[in-house]
Formats: sequence, C-alpha cells, structure tokens
Amino acid sequence: MLGVFDSGVGGLSVWRELAALLPDAPMMYLADQAHVPYGPRPPDEVRRLTERCARWLIDRGCTVVVIACNTASGAALDALRAAHPATHFVGAEPAIKPAALHTRSGIVGVLATQSTLSSARYASLLARFAGAARVLEQPCPEWVTLVEAGDALTPRALPIIDARLRPLLDAGADVLVLGCTHFPFLLPPIHTVLDARAVQVIDPSPAIAREAARWYDGARLFEPRREFWTTGDPAHFSQLASALLGEDVQGRRVKSQSGESE
Ligand code: DGL
Repeated sequence: MLGVFDSGVGGLSVWRELAALLPDAPMMYLADQAHVPYGPRPPDEVRRLTERCARWLIDRGCTVVVIACNTASGAALDALRAAHPATHFVGAEPAIKPAALHTRSGIVGVLATQSTLSSARYASLLARFAGAARVLEQPCPEWVTLVEAGDALTPRALPIIDARLRPLLDAGADVLVLGCTHFPFLLPPIHTVLDARAVQVIDPSPAIAREAARWYDGARLFEPRREFWTTGDPAHFSQLASALLGEDVQGRRVKSQSGESE
C-alpha cells in the first residue's frame, strides 16, 4: 500500500501524478485537515502531527509513505526515517537545484510556507544548490487557505496571488519555485498574473511522484483501490478533492486525537 500525506488537500497535486503512474497500486491519502494550515505552527508541533499521521498510514500497511507537504517534510522527515527504518519515506522540498540551473537573470523566487523557509532542511538546500543565484523567499500563508476554502479558481484568488508574486517579478525573478504542494492548484491564477512574461514556474509534483513510484514494489491489483481519509470534515474534503481531481472522491473521517477511524 502506498500512503500519501499532507496537512490538507495540497498533497493531491502529488497524488494525481502518482495515481497516473501507478494505476494498479493500492493507494491511501490522509489529510490532517483538523490542523491545517501547518505553515504557521512551530516545528515541534508540525513534527508531532506528522509523526502521528505517518504512524497511522504505516499501521494500515503503507510501505512507502509520501510526505506530500514541504512543511511537514522540513520538520519531520529525518525523525520519521530514524523512527521507521522499515518504511520508505519520500519527501517534498523546494526545487532549488533546477531553479538555480535554469535562471538567466540569476534571480529565483521561492513560494512556500514560513515554516518551510525557516527550516534547517531548506537552509541546507540553499547551501548545496543555490550556487550563484540570488534566492528571494516569499511566504504565502493565504494561498494555502485559498485552496482549502475551495477558492483557488474564484475571482478572490487573483489579488491575493498578485500581491505575493508582484514583488518577486519586480525584483527580476525569472524562475519561480512552488515550494508548497497546495500551490500547483493555483497555477491558473498564477499564469494570469504572469501575463505571458518569460518566467518559468517549477512544479515539483511530477518528480516527487516519479521517485515514489520507483520505490514502490508492493501489491498490484486489477481493480484500483483508492482510499481518502481526513481528520477534518469528510463532506468538505470530498467536495474539495472531487473538484481538484476532477473525479468523484468519497473521503472518510479519522478521529484526530486517537488516530482511530470511525
Ligand atoms: N501543503 C503544505 C506544504 O507543502 C503546507 C500547507 C500548510 O501550511 O499546511 O508545505
């Protein structure tokens, strides 16, 4: 069983790539919507929440767990790998390396949560891969909320996207890194703001999905088995996930405190 975890519905951007790569693999998605957003929470709390959700997936037979959340990966990936050596964890992190390779202006913008941008993991990525590129960090707390509220494609989104992108564009960034898994769902308004400028937007979800698919050597089924779980409101999850994935999704509720399902 393959597990995909995020604080909310953002990880579905990785899920849809993975489901296309492995149509016959059983897959389980877990959204910790009782605690979304993770971005403003202290790292210790994000680590604790992530550890609890990862354990829930492992207890249900997941042998590969995708932490499809940059914030949770930044806070918890090392601890998870140390605590669960029999599980393979695939994380999400801002794509600094390809961004530094592709920029022509020498200026790269990274869109992520504050927690990701403050993490030691992110500092290490910069030290290893930024090279000569100037990296401008832009925390975008409202973007996660837009997606979780189902407002990604409504007129509400445009001014909120514009306010965060404009300073990066004015500073000369010609490559933008989507450093949060919620953000690929905002690509239509992002491209509206970019207005055909020569700016490359890096969405790392296909690469994360390819890595997870490489590691998965578990069961293959004739009938696809897809399970969706949330610690929040299953009706809200189902409506959102159905709209984002363009298919009928039925989410079930996990009791967030005990970790037991209803
Ligand atoms: N989707 C998550 C990420 O990739 C963060 C969202 C949140 O703040 O909970 O960072």
